Amino acid sequence: MGDSSGSHAMAEQRVAVEKGTDVETKLIRMDEQHIDAALMREAGDVIKAGGLVAFPTETVYGLGGNALNPQSSEKIYRAKGRPSDNPLIVHIADMKDLDAIVREIPESAVKLAEKFWPGPLTMIFYKSELVPYETTGGLDTVAVRMPVHRVAQELIRSAGGYVAAPSANLSGRPSPTMAKYVIEDMDGRIEMIIDGGDVEIGLESTIVDLTAEKPTILRPGYITKQMLEDVLVSVEEDASMMRGDSGQAPKAPGMKYRHYAPKGELTVVDGEAEAVIAYINAQVDGCRKAHKVTGVITTDLNLCRYHAHICKSVGERQDEETIARELYRVLREFDDENVEVIYAEAFGTDGLGQAIMNRLLKAAGYKVVQV
Ligand code: TXA
Ligand code: MG
Repeated sequence: MGDSSGSHAMAEQRVAVEKGTDVETKLIRMDEQHIDAALMREAGDVIKAGGLVAFPTETVYGLGGNALNPQSSEKIYRAKGRPSDNPLIVHIADMKDLDAIVREIPESAVKLAEKFWPGPLTMIFYKSELVPYETTGGLDTVAVRMPVHRVAQELIRSAGGYVAAPSANLSGRPSPTMAKYVIEDMDGRIEMIIDGGDVEIGLESTIVDLTAEKPTILRPGYITKQMLEDVLVSVEEDASMMRGDSGQAPKAPGMKYRHYAPKGELTVVDGEAEAVIAYINAQVDGCRKAHKVTGVITTDLNLCRYHAHICKSVGERQDEETIARELYRVLREFDDENVEVIYAEAFGTDGLGQAIMNRLLKAAGYKVVQV
């Protein structure tokens, strides 16, 4: 494995948070078609009492606590092993509940909510006094999302209306898209996990800052710039979104952490297909001679073209929805398989491709080779 000190620090962090033994974690199964009212009440009561419940949303699994209780937010940071200056998203289930947690609701937010809520869009507002600084990482603003997943909605209502929830992974690992990954990371660390099956989208929500002079995308997601501009005419993008060297600190504090890093050293290779295949194979051959375990992230068409020990497809190149859904699973599997060097084909950056490449580039620490 390439001896970057970054990956060593990561490895130490992993050992320190390896296995949770603090709490007995109750695992329940519930899907959108079969909401069990009694179990839902029990889950809501856990959150009301200050405990944590992991739950499915349409984007990724969330790790939920009472957003209005500072101790709950502190517990979330502890369970994730996450720095507490990284603010949490407050999840609501009903529009009437927005008022109490924000100072004002700009016209742009009303329009975006009409079109995209409930759904995979997070909006940033100035916070009201009701929201503790522990939840917002010390900021005067608060991120709010209304998920469309029914299990998430019912849990939020049952928990009193305001659920702070980051993705339900240990800090530094890919966000969980399946319950088994939540169990892997959170068993023994939180009170309850609701298994609602695989998520639909697979990448975290789009974040739009409405406290900036112009509405600004801080994190790309399923709701694309084009979709937002259909409603708001003009939307800016945070300069640090697709580049590690923009020289600007990202406005979403969480985006500065190497969030989605696999254990192996990941490089993205961009260029014409045959040149990409030839370059990756030459690199892989060199790594194999040095007895390193190699992996490749590719698409269906090229799956059998590579010499790596393990090749994984994220679907068909033109099917971005599938690529979005598969990406984190593939990164997690490479971790489990102890792959040391990973090469990934680059993807297009139109539409949903922008969110896919944003996550892939971050996972690679922005290491890209142009061929
Ligand atoms: O799809 C999602 O958004 C998932 C599900 C569970 O809803 N949640 C999620 O949360 O991705 P998390 O904590 O993993 O990512 C939240 C991001 C971080 O990058 C954080 O810095 C940013 O949102 N954020 C939260 N509050 C903010 C604020 N007030 N200003 C700027 N960025 C904020
Ligand atoms: Mg996260």
